[in-house]
Order: sequence, then C-alpha cells, then structure tokens
Amino acid sequence: HTVNWDAEETGKSGYDHFMLKEIHEQPRALRQCLRGRVDELGGQVELDELAGVRPTTVQFVACGTSYHAALYGAELFREAGVPAQAFLASEYVTSPPPIGDALVVGVTQSGETADTLSALREARQRGARTLALTNVVGSTVARECDHTLYIRAGPEIGVAASKTFASQLAALNLFAFAATDDHDREAIGALRDLPSTVQEVIDDSTAASVAEAYHDADAYFFIGRGLNYPVALEGALKLKEITYRHAEGFAAGELKHGPLALVTDNSPVIAITTGDGELARKTVNNVKEVEARDAPVIAVTDGQSDIERYADHVLTIPETQPRTAAVLANVQLQLLAYHTADQLGRSIDKPRNLAKSVTVE
Ligand code: G6P
Repeated sequence: HTVNWDAEETGKSGYDHFMLKEIHEQPRALRQCLRGRVDELGGQVELDELAGVRPTTVQFVACGTSYHAALYGAELFREAGVPAQAFLASEYVTSPPPIGDALVVGVTQSGETADTLSALREARQRGARTLALTNVVGSTVARECDHTLYIRAGPEIGVAASKTFASQLAALNLFAFAATDDHDREAIGALRDLPSTVQEVIDDSTAASVAEAYHDADAYFFIGRGLNYPVALEGALKLKEITYRHAEGFAAGELKHGPLALVTDNSPVIAITTGDGELARKTVNNVKEVEARDAPVIAVTDGQSDIERYADHVLTIPETQPRTAAVLANVQLQLLAYHTADQLGRSIDKPRNLAKSVTVE
C-alpha cells in the first residue's frame, strides 16, 4: 500500500511554521491511517498486512518520540494480556534482552534511524521475526523487516515530530486490536472517531494563552500515569526540543522520590489526568504535593476528576476512552510547546543541534 504525497502538502499553506501546519494536519493524517482498516460498524480492525500475526510476546525498539509511542504500544499489549516491553534501541543493542519467541517491532517514522535499524538487525540475527511501523514507503526498515505497517501520516518537515507521533499511536492501536483479536466496540469506535475529536481539541485549545503565562519559567515538569506516562515524556521532549528550556517528564508516582526537590514557584507542573478512576485520584494527590510547594499547575484533563480544583490553568479534552485520551492530551502538549517556542522566537522547524533523521549510532 502506498500513499500519494501531493505537492500542495510540501508548502506551509499560510502557517507560520511547518510544525503548526503539521499539528493541524493531524485529523487528516489520522483519517488516512485508519482508512479501510476499521470496520464501518466499529467492531473490528482489519490489517491485511498483518494477517496471521498473533505474537505471544512483543519487544518494541525505538528512539526519541518513537520510543514514547513504543511505551504506549507496549502498554496496549499488556492490557490485552500479552507480555510486551519497550526498549531504547541504542540500549537494546548494547545489552540485548532474551528474545524467546518475541515479535520485535521497530517504531521509526523515517525508517532510517541507525540505532533502531541496528536493534532490529540484532534481533533478526537472534532469530526473531520483525515488524516495521513506519511512515516512509520503501524505507530501509520496511525493506529489512518481515512485516510492515505504514502509519500513512504524509510527509513531516518539522524536525520535532508531531503528526507522525499521533499516527504512530493510532497505528499501534490498530496493531494491538488486530494482533490480540480485540473486538472492544467502544474502544474501536473511539479510535474511529479520533480524527474529529483531535479536530475539536485543536479548535478549542487555549494552549497559546497558557504558554504566554509561563514562557519564562525556569523548568517544566510533566507528570502522568499509565498511558499518560509516555504522553508526559513526549510533552517534555517536545518542549525541550523547540524551546531549549529545561523540561522533564516523570511517572506521576515518581515525583515524590526525588524530582520534587526541583519544584519551585517558577517551575510549572503539567499534569495529565483522564478518567475518574484510581489513576486519576492518585495523580490528583501528586498535584496537591506540588501545589503545596507553590508550583503553578497546568492540568490537561477531560474534566472527570477534581484536578481542576488544584490547577491554575486547565487544558481540556473531550471525554473519551483512555487510549484515545492520550492522543488528545498530547495535542494540547504539542500546542503548549509550539506556542511557548513561538513566544521565545525559536527556530521551531529546525531546532539547534537536532536532525530529522539520525543515521549514525
Ligand atoms: C531524531 C529526531 C526525533 C525522532 C528520532 C527518531 O532524533 O530528531 O524527533 O523522534 O530521531 O526518529 P524516527 O525516524 O526513528 O522515528
């Protein structure tokens, strides 16, 4: 299956930066990713390219933003009862884990990242079957792996990944539904509706005004649990890449085990909480701890918990399933990073020292 990348897509089409354009292209990118793969009635995911792939164990390898997608993907498989783990590709090569009968999945937008290719080669040499999750048709990773699942995001020019991350998360959902024979109608329906819910978040976001209030902060800390943990990591990575400000993402429960020492009244804590269950309750408790240290709190929430009571600012997302909530929360964090960088006058599409695709180890 190939994707037509038309010429019109290669200009900025009136946006100040490619990154902002690509954030706005996410509904379309997601529609392309899902097209023909989700049964119209919402009860089934069909991936011809993965027919018969039913892994009993999954190891993900990836770098950077794609590693955060891999953490999310591993969690989806674990929720379905399939042992799964995400590895930083460079570390996987340094000390390879026992592979057993694992399917090894390389998550790489470009399909050319040297560390990821090395990890997959290492796995293949040890007899593993491999799957590429990539955006680029005919890329090295697609040529070398046994199976390929294209995320179909269209070309991404901004060095900091935005729409490709959302499309990776959507494709990982498709992969997990198909490979574990999961027919959860509600979750599949939420995935099918993702293009329009992402559009809603983009249209209603107040991230620009929040960015204005905090663009001069000393540091930014992002916290989340479960599926929102990789979202916290990605929110921090995006912010540091394009603003050059200190930003870190933590598992919400870890904050009290060290990072809390860094929290001051000039270090906003961005807390991602969705749902009204146990995870949300615990994250709200963590937020109370930072509030007691006078840190500004920015809550990214679907309004189901009482986190708003402890937050200085709220970035709202529509109520949805936990898996899709993570994608929506990330859109708010992309916009927060973008607008902060814009107010600081940074070179958003081409941050210093960074490259779109890193082909050396
Ligand atoms: C580079 C980019 C990152 C990207 C990483 C992995 O470091 O600057 O934005 O996440 O490579 O890229 P990949 O193409 O493998 O997804």
